[in-house]
Amino acid sequence: MATSSTPPNGAPDDIAAHLMDQAMGHLFSAALRTAAQYRIADHLAEGPRTPEQLAVATDTHAPHLRRVLRYLAARGIFREDASGAYQLTPVARALRTDVPGSLHPAVMMITDELFLRTSARMPEAVREGGAAFERLFGVPLFAHLAADPAQRELFDSGMSSLSGPVDEAVVAVYPFPQTGTVVDIGGGRGGLLRAVLRRRPQLTGVLFDQPPPLAHHLLDGDELKGRWRTEEGDFFSSVPRGGDVYVLKHVLHDWADEDCRRILRTCRAAMDRGTRLLVIDSVLPPGNAPHFGKTMDVAMMTVLDGQERTAQEFSTLLSAGGFRLTRVLPTAAFPSIVEAVAE
Ligand SMILES: C[S@@+](CC[C@H](N)C(=O)[O-])C[C@H]1O[C@@H](n2cnc3c(N)ncnc32)[C@H](O)[C@@H]1O
Repeated sequence: MATSSTPPNGAPDDIAAHLMDQAMGHLFSAALRTAAQYRIADHLAEGPRTPEQLAVATDTHAPHLRRVLRYLAARGIFREDASGAYQLTPVARALRTDVPGSLHPAVMMITDELFLRTSARMPEAVREGGAAFERLFGVPLFAHLAADPAQRELFDSGMSSLSGPVDEAVVAVYPFPQTGTVVDIGGGRGGLLRAVLRRRPQLTGVLFDQPPPLAHHLLDGDELKGRWRTEEGDFFSSVPRGGDVYVLKHVLHDWADEDCRRILRTCRAAMDRGTRLLVIDSVLPPGNAPHFGKTMDVAMMTVLDGQERTAQEFSTLLSAGGFRLTRVLPTAAFPSIVEAVAE
């Protein structure tokens, strides 16, 4: 029988099972959230445990928990052994809260009711355009977060966690200069800036964002002492001047083209001619090839009226903002580095 991970072979039964399984994708999000919420992966860190043992440890209902684990194991999250106990898979390990690169906060953010309810409004957004989120909550995402510190914390920690593997992949491939200043615009809690400064001991950095992520920045500690500063502000108005490399990571994908042009022009106004700008976002491949960016694209569409882009779309956008695209570097993670220079 086909499942979402087994493409249909053309036989009518398989197509039906495949399509119905796909249609129930929201249950996968809910099951993943259940496992994350009860920190099942943490409880399996020391070795396999039965659903009954896990239920005692997490104060949950054992028969229900067993069924959720069976479902997740059928999709490669956890694995049931011959004795009926469950163990971690490599994917489940990333759900642990206590490992470097943990994606637990990202899963908690992405599967939050705020975004699940937003996705349910996708058909209306497709009919009328605009962000489903705004239609549902009456304000854009960042205004909503500004009014709800708990949701803002969930968002910032989720973004920071989602960014961890990307930050390492970016510094592994991009030749940041040995000296000078990197300005990370909308840099969140500063995970990327921290990774860059660790790799280049002579560089200094500026982390520019709104106050809430800056209040929980990741730059403290002896290692980076004296080499960074934070600056709060609005990238539609002005950004810090005098940088040697500017970064917009997972920022442009939050916005529609006209807003992106405004952000780019604000950056351009702060930059000298010839200064580099790195846009770090998914670069969508042409055609039908699977790419995580295509999932992110519809997420951006519903939540923010943003979008992921092709290399050509980036080139056009950058030109309109006063930049020339110089190259696109893939990374080992899902985003690419779109390098541009201020013209
Ligand atoms: C999707 S997050 C990306 C964060 C970080 N660059 C990363 O990759 O993890 C977008 C960031 O843009 C910031 N932001 C949104 N609107 C802003 C504005 N008008 N001015 C400055 N920062 C803004 C948010 O606070 C958030 O940290």
